[in-house]
Amino acid sequence: MTSVRKCLFPAAGYGTRFLPATKSIPKEMLPIVNKPLIQYGVEEALQAGMRDIAIVTGKGKQAIEDLFDRNPVLERAVAGSDKETLLADTNRLIETCTFSYTRQKAMRGLGDAILTGEPLIGDLPFGVVLADDLCIGNEKGEGVLKQMAALFEKHHCSIVAVEEVAPEETHKYGVIAGIEVEPGLYEVREMVEKPAPDEAPSNLAIIGRYILTPDIFELLRRTPPGKGGEVQITDALREQARAGRVLAWRFQGRRFDCGSVPGFVEATNHFYRLRFGNG
Ligand code: G1P
Repeated sequence: MTSVRKCLFPAAGYGTRFLPATKSIPKEMLPIVNKPLIQYGVEEALQAGMRDIAIVTGKGKQAIEDLFDRNPVLERAVAGSDKETLLADTNRLIETCTFSYTRQKAMRGLGDAILTGEPLIGDLPFGVVLADDLCIGNEKGEGVLKQMAALFEKHHCSIVAVEEVAPEETHKYGVIAGIEVEPGLYEVREMVEKPAPDEAPSNLAIIGRYILTPDIFELLRRTPPGKGGEVQITDALREQARAGRVLAWRFQGRRFDCGSVPGFVEATNHFYRLRFGNG
């Protein structure tokens, strides 16, 4: 069992790439087949033993709270029909997890969104899930957060998930460089937010899964705005790596970038095939 019980979901972003849908639907609520993106993320957190779900929201995100809340009228309406089972997974999450919410005051970047979650997290290590990175785990069925939680029990330091990307893609990600200390596990030496290919320290890109130790909050308070004029978690983690230790895990599994239309469609096809086969 992991000692990491809390998981933070920054969910304040506008999702402008999915306008006009995201004009009135939070991007985290866009469904892959029939399940909203954020629910995949919460299921992954729960599988890793993280039952306390903290969500940083903003304007127009009410639908997320309604998803993670029982709806007796709807439940009565589908009771006894073949639709009943469609609510079962969501209800299991509602009954097993706690959900707490706070609002980001202004869009000052991912680092600021994580810092906004501090009152919900407190002085404990915690997971972070960016719901638009939809991840499936390894062949043993272990999700990315579960893999990272196991590493945390051994190393007790912040861990980021990474994957190799093509050089022309580095400008979309935080990119690390490090020393491989075990197969797939790197001790971070350098970390840059969205570098151009010729400035990237490697092709290992951070994806939206983190386990962070709570001293990150103090580092975030001291982090000046970086790339794009926003407070970047990547910059705070670079300081944490310099002062102590940060690990990067080349996770086992696959990630779909559901913040982009092609990635969203790929994920849809993948989960459609899982559910309905190829026919
Ligand atoms: C954020 C982080 C970036 C990371 C990425 C993963 O960027 O700032 O370091 O690589 O998530 O999805 P965003 O995609 O929010 O621009």
